[in-house]
Amino acid sequence: MLIHSASQVLTLAGGPQRGTAFGGAQLGTLGLIEDGAVLLREGAVVAVGPSAELRAAHPNEESFDASGRVVMPAFVDAHSHPIWAGDRAAEFELRQQGKSYLEVLAAGGGILSTVRATRAATLEQLHAETEARLQRMFAHGSATIEAKSGYGLSLESELRLLEVLLALDAQGPWDLAITFLGAHAIPAEFKDRAGDYAQELARNWLPELKAWWLAHAGGRPLPFFDVFCETGAFDLAQTRMMLEAAKQAGFPLKLHADEFDNLGGTALAVELGAASVDHLVAISDTEIAALAASDTVGVALPATPFGLAEVHNAPARKILAAGGLLAVGGDLNPGTAWCESLQFTLALACRQLKLTQAEAIAATTINAAAAIGAAARTGSLEPGKQADLLILDVADYRQLGYRFGTNLVHSVYKKGVPYPVHQDEFSTNPD
Ligand code: NIG
Ligand code: FE
Repeated sequence: MLIHSASQVLTLAGGPQRGTAFGGAQLGTLGLIEDGAVLLREGAVVAVGPSAELRAAHPNEESFDASGRVVMPAFVDAHSHPIWAGDRAAEFELRQQGKSYLEVLAAGGGILSTVRATRAATLEQLHAETEARLQRMFAHGSATIEAKSGYGLSLESELRLLEVLLALDAQGPWDLAITFLGAHAIPAEFKDRAGDYAQELARNWLPELKAWWLAHAGGRPLPFFDVFCETGAFDLAQTRMMLEAAKQAGFPLKLHADEFDNLGGTALAVELGAASVDHLVAISDTEIAALAASDTVGVALPATPFGLAEVHNAPARKILAAGGLLAVGGDLNPGTAWCESLQFTLALACRQLKLTQAEAIAATTINAAAAIGAAARTGSLEPGKQADLLILDVADYRQLGYRFGTNLVHSVYKKGVPYPVHQDEFSTNPD
């Protein structure tokens, strides 16, 4: 299949090394080809180049005329909590009336209210609700999605969430990068005993989790292990203890740090070689330097402060000025950011993080892929990589980020298979 005559093909190729993220000032190198074409075979990209060249070289190829449209790598959402039951609309109303997120959590609401609803849900219900969310994410262009557990908070209920995520990954069309977030909050059974919960998780759950994964995950590598290092969740010592145990057991690491308060989580994530450290609103200058000197990707989540109506955001420009690897993720969750459109998050990144459209596109494709260890497979259009791409209903990539609230995706190609996104089914002509 030859997709040709695209007004622009964004390859996102040419990173410092194939399959790596763009650092600092390199972010925003789009590898733009005007009047471009992409040749796909057996789910992979075979060639990318000017339309005239590829059409002359492959005259008999089945083709799609993308004229007037942008072709770019599919988005990678590097951070999401897509599996839960219930909603927190009533809590949002309380927050609108002045209660803070951490106050609601301390009073047994917040994450803990979603935990109650999630524990009470059947597997079928969790599957159906999560599938619907993944479909909406996919239709907005996210073809690879990091997906965290974390609303079970007992070993049994966390494994149920992993079971559903594994089934949804096998089902596709999306690829999921699964993360175990048993350390998302302190469950009611361990109220005021965060240290005991952290010990229980590190000593008793980790070996069982590993054995369960090896028996159920069909040969997939171990999931990421993540902790919410924050006031009201886990302190730095508990976070270190859990991350070190997980690393020892062979799990790749991620960390939620600096969403509200700086507890030193970013420095710890860098020290332990985490794949990513996420949120970063309260990151310090020393930690920015440490992050920039490392291979750990900093993931900014601008939908979260937006969802909380907070004004502070990750200092993305400072991270880039220091030469750091920056990605942007969606943070879909029922508490702070129920947003299934990474295009909307990208628009926030252009405003709240002061990224250009090109930087925001790289931060949600190739750099996001690096944040989940998938940059060798997806996130750019290069020969040999998966044919995960978007055709946009616009002629200039700068429409992304500039416009918001409308889905600009015409179709999503996942491993070479096209999924049209129907936006025009509504008509104002009554009949
Ligand atoms: O990334 N910070 C922890 N987790 C989510 C919020 C989860 C929730 O409130 O349910 C976040 O913002
Ligand atoms: Fe999160």
